[in-house]
Amino acid sequence: MTQNVKATLSFSDGRPAVEMPLLKGQIGPDVMDIRPVTNAGIFTYDPGFLATASTKSAITYIDGDEGLLYYRGYPIEQLAERCSFLETCYLLWYGELPDKERLEAYETRIRKHTMVHDQMSRFFQGFRRDAHPMAVMCGTIGALSAFYHDHLDVNLPEDRELSMFRLVSKVPTIAAMSYKYNQGLPFMYPNNQLSYVANFLHMMFATPCEPYFANPIAVRALERIMILHADHEQNASTSTVRLAGSTGANPFACIAAGVAALWGPAHGGANEEVLKMLDEIGEVKNIDKFIARAKDKNDSFRLMGFGHRVYKNRDPRAGVMRQTCHEVLGEMGITTEQLEIAMRLEEIALKDDYFIERKLYPNVDFYSGIVLKALGIPVKMFTAIFAMSRTIGWISQWNEFMSDPERKIGRPRQLYVGAARRDLNR
Ligand code: SDX
Repeated sequence: MTQNVKATLSFSDGRPAVEMPLLKGQIGPDVMDIRPVTNAGIFTYDPGFLATASTKSAITYIDGDEGLLYYRGYPIEQLAERCSFLETCYLLWYGELPDKERLEAYETRIRKHTMVHDQMSRFFQGFRRDAHPMAVMCGTIGALSAFYHDHLDVNLPEDRELSMFRLVSKVPTIAAMSYKYNQGLPFMYPNNQLSYVANFLHMMFATPCEPYFANPIAVRALERIMILHADHEQNASTSTVRLAGSTGANPFACIAAGVAALWGPAHGGANEEVLKMLDEIGEVKNIDKFIARAKDKNDSFRLMGFGHRVYKNRDPRAGVMRQTCHEVLGEMGITTEQLEIAMRLEEIALKDDYFIERKLYPNVDFYSGIVLKALGIPVKMFTAIFAMSRTIGWISQWNEFMSDPERKIGRPRQLYVGAARRDLNR
C-alpha cells in the first residue's frame, strides 16, 4: 500500500511543513494519508466526505468516471448475468465465489435461519397498521439483539459469521412480515424448499388459503435487483454501519442503523421517490415543467433517480437495470405510462445542458422502481427490498472493519464557529 511518494504541506505563515505519504491501492486513485497534519495542530475539513477515504477495503471497487463496479474484482454486469444472489453473498463475505459443494453448504446454513423467534411477531402488534415498512424494519432488526444475544462476541470471527447468517436469512422474513402486517394479512412462514428469492416472494404474496407459485420472470428479475444492490463501497448507510460497529455495538444494532440511513430519499429511499415523481408528472406532456423545476434553485424538487456522488458518467447498475426493465415488461406484456414517461425523461434530461454540465445521469434507482412495480411489489416496500439486498454488503463491510486489528472508534472533529468563551454574569 505504501509507496515512496510523499505530499508536502507547507504553510505561508512559516509553520513547519508536514509530509504525508501517498498510499497506492490495487486499482484506483492514490490516497494521501493525512494523519500527520495533526502534528501541525490542524484538522482537515471535508463536509460530506467528498475527498475523504474513510478506510481501506478489499470488498467493492467503484470508478465513478469510467462507470465501473466490481465485487471482489468481478464486474457487476457479469455477476448480475451469471450468478445467484446467494453466490454473490458468499463472494462478498468470503472473498471468493463458492464451488458447488461450498454453495450447497452455504445455502443449507442460510435455510436454517429463515424463521424469526415466534415472540417477534408480537413486536408488529405495537406498530400502527399504516406504519411504513422501513419504520418496522428499523425497529425489528434492532430488536433481533433482544432475541439472539448468544454468540454475539464481535471479536470472534465465528460469532460474526453466525450474525451474517442470521441477518441474511431473517431480514427477508422480517421484510415480508412488515408488508403482511401493513396489509392486515397473516404472516407466512418461510418455505425452505424454495430458493432464497422465491421464498421471499412466497412470504410476501402467498396466503394460507391457496397455493402460490412465484412467476419465474419475477424471481430472476428480483434476483438481479438484489445482486445489483448488494454492496456499494463506503456509501452513507455502509459508513453508518461501520461507524456504529466501531463502538463495539452488536451487529443487529449496526445493521438497524444502516437501515435508518438507507431510508433517506437522497439514498435508498430514492427508488420509492422515483415512482412518486413519475406519478406526479402523470403524462409525457408535463415532463418539461418538471425538468424546469429540477433546475430551479428556488425549488426543492429534484429529478429522483438522477445523479450520484461517485458516478459522474454512468451508473453501471442502471444499464443492467434498464435492460432488465425492458425484458420484464416485454415478457410480462406490460406497457406502463410510467415507463413511457421514464424513457422520455431520460432522453430529454440526457440532452439538457444543466444535467450534462453537472454529470447527472440515471442511477440504479431510476429503473429499479419501475421493475419492482411491474413485479407487483408495492412502492412502500421498495426501500425495504433495497435493505434486504444491502444487508450482505453492510455485514461484510462491518466484518472487514471488525477484523482489522488496527481498528479505532470513529470520532471526527470539527471547525468550531460558535461563541467564544464567555462567563455567566449571575
Ligand atoms: C443511492 O453513495 C452511493 O453509493 C449510494 C447508492 C448505493 O448503492 O448505496 O448508489 C444508492 O443512493 C443512489 C442515489 C439515489 N438518490 C437519488 O436519486 C436522489 C436524487 N439525486 C440527488 O439527491 C443527488 O444527485 C445525490 C444525493 C444522489 C448526489 O448528490 P451530490 O453528489 O451531493 O451532488 P450535489 O447535491 O452537490 O449536486 C450537485 C449539483 C447541484 O446543483 P448546483 O448547486 O451545482 O447548481 O447537481 C444538482 C444540485 O442541485 N443536482 C440535481 C440532482 N442531483 C444533483 N439537480 C436536479 N436533480 C437531481 N437529481
